[in-house]
Amino acid sequence: MSIRLLAAAFAVATALFAFNVAEVSAHGDVTPQPVDTTGLDPLGEEWRKHNPYRENAKAIEIGTSGYNQNCARCHGLEAISGGLAPDLRLLDKGDAGDEWFMERIRHGAKKPDGTTMMPAFDGLISQEAMWAIRTYLESKYTPQ
Ligand code: HEC
Repeated sequence: MSIRLLAAAFAVATALFAFNVAEVSAHGDVTPQPVDTTGLDPLGEEWRKHNPYRENAKAIEIGTSGYNQNCARCHGLEAISGGLAPDLRLLDKGDAGDEWFMERIRHGAKKPDGTTMMPAFDGLISQEAMWAIRTYLESKYTPQ
């Protein structure tokens, strides 16, 4: 192998290594991703008790991307849990599941010793974004 080829191979290996490192640190990163809710009716300040966007196609679309960016790393792609966190396709559909969904997404979950199991999203993503994610999850609902 010529020196030049060796140098090229080395450069590729270094780049791949750097890429892997970047990917690994991106995984551990819990920075919430903003969700663009343009196209959904704004909800104002007051918290809704029930999903105002149920079955709204635009909300499903926005919720899919909001879910993929903020929830999938723990709850799994396509909402199919890999075992790290509960499978959200099983959440009660309709009004019955709204309150528990909002409790968790807004306030997260901690272990009794205070360790975070799930981050709180209150103040980080909008109410519109939260209900859009709920609408997406309801579209994936799978009865137990
Ligand atoms: C860092 C990992 C992590 C992220 C990110 C995360 N969750 Fe969770 N979530 C968990 C864990 C772990 C639990 C279980 C907590 C428990 O057992 O008390 C949970 C529980 C829940 C529950 C209750 C499920 C049930 O069956 O009781 C809901 C709803 C939920 N998460 C929604 C979301 C949504 C929506 C997002 C994204 C906006 C999200 N989570 C992001 C880890 C995560």
